Amino acid sequence: MCGIVGYIGCNQAAPILLEGLTKLEYRGYDSAGLAVCDGTRIHVSKCKGRLKVLSELTKGGETLKGTLGIGHTRWATHGAPSDTNSHPHYNTNETIAVVHNGIIENYNKIKSRLCEKGYRFQSETDTEVIVQLLDRYYTGDPLAAISKIMTKLEGSYALGIIFKDYPDELYAVRRDNPLIVGVSEEGNFIASDVPAILKYTRKVFYVENGEIVRLTREGTQFFNSDLEHLAKEASIVEWDMAAAEKGGYEHFMLKEIYEQPKAVKDTLHPRIKDGKIVIDELNMNEDDIRKLEKIFIVACGSAYHAGMTGKYVIEDLARIPVEVDLASEFRYRNPIYPKNTLTIIISQSGETADSLAALREAKKNNCRVLGIVNVVGSSIAREADNVMYTWAGPEIAVATTKAYSTQLTAMYLLALHFAWIRQTLDRDKYDALLKELLSIPGRIEDIIKKNTTEIQYIASKFVAVRDCFFIGRGNDYSAALEGSLKLKEISYIHSEAYPAGELKHGPIALIEEGTLVIGLLTQEKLNKKTASNIVEVKSRGAFILSITCEGDEEADRISDLVIKIPAVDRHFTISLSVIILQLIAYYIAACKGIDLDKPRNLAKSVTVE
Ligand code: M6R
Repeated sequence: MCGIVGYIGCNQAAPILLEGLTKLEYRGYDSAGLAVCDGTRIHVSKCKGRLKVLSELTKGGETLKGTLGIGHTRWATHGAPSDTNSHPHYNTNETIAVVHNGIIENYNKIKSRLCEKGYRFQSETDTEVIVQLLDRYYTGDPLAAISKIMTKLEGSYALGIIFKDYPDELYAVRRDNPLIVGVSEEGNFIASDVPAILKYTRKVFYVENGEIVRLTREGTQFFNSDLEHLAKEASIVEWDMAAAEKGGYEHFMLKEIYEQPKAVKDTLHPRIKDGKIVIDELNMNEDDIRKLEKIFIVACGSAYHAGMTGKYVIEDLARIPVEVDLASEFRYRNPIYPKNTLTIIISQSGETADSLAALREAKKNNCRVLGIVNVVGSSIAREADNVMYTWAGPEIAVATTKAYSTQLTAMYLLALHFAWIRQTLDRDKYDALLKELLSIPGRIEDIIKKNTTEIQYIASKFVAVRDCFFIGRGNDYSAALEGSLKLKEISYIHSEAYPAGELKHGPIALIEEGTLVIGLLTQEKLNKKTASNIVEVKSRGAFILSITCEGDEEADRISDLVIKIPAVDRHFTISLSVIILQLIAYYIAACKGIDLDKPRNLAKSVTVE
């Protein structure tokens, strides 16, 4: 999604803003722009395309003089990517400039009213109504104008605003879209995400919904929408620049694939004490856990796939009924919450608009909410009743890998913990499963070491493939979904995932000579069934690549290619098979020369509905 950076300090703003925006490139964008105030005028430079184009246009920021400015990378929602639709947007007199993340839902209504009053619009964006509305209510007091427009705007927004009349002040406000404030000796910042300002400071304030911020060169002041002063405490960001750099890898995605053993270990180990799982942050006593009648797991994309695994393992081990929902559906479906229900929201960014809305829906229904979140201090982390962090560290590539693996780990921890408390597992089985779980980081490391060269070779064979099907049963189906999403989002190859038993009910019609089918066979009890489905597609011309556990000979007989993963307990095999699927997707996309850290049309954190 869009990225915002703002700066006020003693240095030239434009180069700092450009640099900050490059750190937000991973969020996905199609155009970019800057507005800088030189004390007497606001100068705007903006264009369609990559930041490189903006940098050339402004000679690395040199053409825009001034120590106060705002910058933006736009991911088009209203109006196609174009120079005119890019942010910042001006009012007609060019005295106010605004950058915006989010969507103004009532922009058409506001636009019509403003047009009746004689306002004229340049762009097709919803953002331009914000700046014109500010113009309408501005009578010399920026705070008063901002609080007034907040009563008029519906939808979500994080805004950076500068006024020509106030060259020593930078304003920001948010509702349902992330925004942080950073303070440093070098000056003060606003940003939509930490990497943009990490070079200058780790001291940040998380702006809450409805808060307005005034930044000067000397400091920051926070206000509520009634313009009362707010006292806020700064947080210190734990990770540093190195964690957000590529560190010699060709892409962030590859770096993050390699970081998985550590990410999983970091998520697992702090929660094991004296041979038992202890999840303090759950804040549920044994009685609360015993009484659980139902769990909803709600998420989007890969986090939803991790939730599907959560359903398999929690139902199987702890015998609690689990429903998994896509957040975009859950928020509108009016679910029934039995008395002792837990809603789990899974999100890497903690800012996904639909997941956040689902969280609020659950809370409105008096349901306890547990957030499983990677980004510390994010909206979901702050609004959930309790948070269990996945310690994956910053994930920059749009295609998630390490965060997803840590989400799986969180699911296993919860399943085993609940099972132990509810006594659905005896001590021997519990100990054996925990031992297996603790072996996962090492096994992931071995798989990466052992299989990369073979996968590079296989990927080179599949570069020209047009369609791909991933099939599996049970937890293998959840791996199939994740493998398929990885492949399509970074390689642009059409791919679909099906429960293997469902093929005959329609999709098999699409199988023809050479269609690639990736079969997952890691669930001993189900493998024979999936193998039969594989034989069915093979006899219709499909090319079969199977992923199975060491010791399974059946797959060798029916497949064209087989990749083997170590045999671990069936609940955890997905943590290993998915590494193979990530590497396949990565190397196919890399062979195709795709800018795979920033795949087309995609954004890292989806902060609009
Ligand atoms: O930040 P979140 O975990 O809430 O994001 C959810 C999805 O947008 C995300 O998993 C998306 O599907 C990724 N691009 C998958 O690689």
